[in-house]
Amino acid sequence: MSSLTDLLPHPIVQAPMAGGVSVPQLAAAVSEAGGLGFLAAGYKTADGMYQEIKQLRGLTHRPFGVNVFMPQPEHPGAATGSTGAAGAARPCAAAVEVYANQLAGEATWYETELGDRDSGRDDGYDAKLAVLLDDPVPVVSFHFGVPAPDVLESLRRLGTLTLVTATTAEEALAVQEAGADAVIAQGVEAGGHQGTHRDSQENDGAGIGLLSLLAQVRETVSIPVVASGGIMRGSQIAAVLAAGASAAQLGTAFLATPESGAHPAHKQALTDPHFVRTELTRAFSGRPARGLVNRFMREHGPYAPAAYPEVHHLTSPLRKAAAKAGDAQGMALWAGQGHRLARDLPAGRLVEVLVAELQEAATALPAGGAGR
Ligand SMILES: Cc1cc2nc3c(=O)[nH]c(=O)nc-3n(C[C@H](O)[C@H](O)[C@H](O)COP(=O)(O)O)c2cc1C
Repeated sequence: MSSLTDLLPHPIVQAPMAGGVSVPQLAAAVSEAGGLGFLAAGYKTADGMYQEIKQLRGLTHRPFGVNVFMPQPEHPGAATGSTGAAGAARPCAAAVEVYANQLAGEATWYETELGDRDSGRDDGYDAKLAVLLDDPVPVVSFHFGVPAPDVLESLRRLGTLTLVTATTAEEALAVQEAGADAVIAQGVEAGGHQGTHRDSQENDGAGIGLLSLLAQVRETVSIPVVASGGIMRGSQIAAVLAAGASAAQLGTAFLATPESGAHPAHKQALTDPHFVRTELTRAFSGRPARGLVNRFMREHGPYAPAAYPEVHHLTSPLRKAAAKAGDAQGMALWAGQGHRLARDLPAGRLVEVLVAELQEAATALPAGGAGR
């Protein structure tokens, strides 16, 4: 089977971005330009995911990926068939109830109801896997834990390359031991959710910067590593390749493109000087995710419980109502630390510019380049 780098003319992966951002048009533009376009199956039904796969196949014949969220365990310490998320302590219902009471004013303000916190915790994992095994795609990546080895093996037998996110060297080792083809090293700079395998408030503030993480992961595993977090320029891609990555995965950079399905207010906020910084917050979903600091994050972040996906379900109608009203202060404005460097370029053109910058940076190195 070919490796990720064999599949791609350029070592550039467009990050999967759930919530309607990495739509087929975006993934197609990136894949057509020689990068790897990605669909995000998170929060979608299996059929919704399949419809997007079919749409993407109609737009490009080039390789692409589909990203799947790992299910969250039911009970404290419960095993779920996944090695990564197993053992995570579940929040007590009381903490979610307190948070729901604190969000009541938001529901009144946006003239909506809070969502049903018990709307499910497996994100349709089994049904999505069944689709991906029935009608294989070139690449599948997993977030929030590690699939069981037999799942990875089944995908491999069908010719699908498997990638799993890790945020520490220990998690990267678990990814390798489960039999994935490559690991995505996600630095703390990254926009959106940290793909931590076992969420715990004890780890808050322990996130590792990408270059430091990359070196630790390279010295721990022998499988290829994809570097992700805060990468906005080709020179940064050159840096992670020089540090041992096989490719770079960029989210925020592609979020700003016209093909991305992000809300216009979200795109504008990336370079709006009113949004001066990003933070990791549990305010919207109950799991740490990086976004532009806005009113909702400031008001609710400090006491939001570690309760994913209950908090995600709870805030879903609030986020939808804020988006409908175009109110960036109530939306989840996921963004990485490099957001100010976002460029409003068509996605295919962005890939070309990144490749040119990468080549320039590689040849500028005294040792003669950082190329692969
Ligand atoms: C809006 C948004 C949504 C995201 N959704 C997902 C997702 O569904 N699955 C996933 O594996 N990663 C997701 N991520 C994280 C990315 O995979 C990646 O780690 C991150 O974008 C890299 O940092 P950067 O945004 O600074 O480039 C998301 C990131 C953003 C910005």
